[in-house]
Amino acid sequence: MVNGSEIIAKQDEEVKAFDESKTGVKGLVDKGILKIPKFFIQSPDELETLKKSDMGLTLQVPVIDLQGEHQRVVDDIKNACEKWGFFQILNHGVPISIMDEMIKGIRRFNEQDDEIKKEIYSRDLSKRVRFSSNFVLYQSKAANWRDTLTFLMSTPDPLNPTELPEVCRDVTVEYTKHVKTLGDTLFELLSEAIGLKPDHLKRLEWAESCVLASNYYPACPQPELAIGAAKHRDPSFLTILLQDNIGGLQVLYQDEWVDVEPILGAFVINIGDLFQIISNDRFKSIEHRVLANHIGPRVSIACFLTVCLNRIMKTYGPIKELLSDEDIPVYRNITTKDYIEYFNSQGDGKSGLSTLRLQ
Ligand code: OGA
Ligand code: NI
Repeated sequence: MVNGSEIIAKQDEEVKAFDESKTGVKGLVDKGILKIPKFFIQSPDELETLKKSDMGLTLQVPVIDLQGEHQRVVDDIKNACEKWGFFQILNHGVPISIMDEMIKGIRRFNEQDDEIKKEIYSRDLSKRVRFSSNFVLYQSKAANWRDTLTFLMSTPDPLNPTELPEVCRDVTVEYTKHVKTLGDTLFELLSEAIGLKPDHLKRLEWAESCVLASNYYPACPQPELAIGAAKHRDPSFLTILLQDNIGGLQVLYQDEWVDVEPILGAFVINIGDLFQIISNDRFKSIEHRVLANHIGPRVSIACFLTVCLNRIMKTYGPIKELLSDEDIPVYRNITTKDYIEYFNSQGDGKSGLSTLRLQ
């Protein structure tokens, strides 16, 4: 008879072997597996929720044309950030050709010879260029069906491009330049949307670090049992996401999972936990996830604008100008060090925000 702890030990061994293969989920698919390993299978409770949105296209994350009338854009962003924590943007100034090339570059990286990928496979979070499968592989209940290539582009000193993988080097440099400019534009709009002067958030220089996390979701032989990315909130200020045309991203809206339909040429923008803190809960960091799919690979590129991990004693907290006798601070101030602890405690996608709350 096999007892529970033996099953767990066997599963741990499988996870370890998977990690040590350094070839990620794509490596499993390349072997031609028809059944996914047990450690990817979601809990029965979670499995029940895994389906496309019931709402179809009737309920949609707001889509905002940045070339629209200025006050209208600001109002739409305000509404989106209060209700959804998510919106899509069009006419944002980033050439579609660069967006396309970036997706192709990430495909090339993942589809090149395994040996080159293995060289940078690592769980060392301080490495500025890192390939791995599953950020929390050993601690999580079930693994995500995706592999991720992470670049710490600025912390705030820029990454030397020669450190980037050759197959996507030039396009990554170009793409990052554009996305950072877009980030500046968005911070100006978000400042106005929350009722501050346009340069307020930029002047604070809070989101000075840019982390590019590129995800590769291989086609899954049993998508009904697994998940591409388990539900989570982003621990960033702001996330600028580029997704290809496959779909699978969902956001939680009034307790329903709503599909974020891929729109050609659009970016998906979402408020992260840090923005929720500085906005004193006016703008929401919302749970989202990615379904696994028979079709693939799916590629997405997330640019997290976040704190600079080098500035260990810098403090972050609700913006003074947003506070009054009626609007008392909901969060305590935190240092970068507190933030790192909270980030690492996230483990299984549970937001640590409640630990930072005052009431
Ligand atoms: C993330 C994320 C969504 C996607 O990387 O934090 O939510 O569509 N990605 O890949
Ligand atoms: Ni996310």
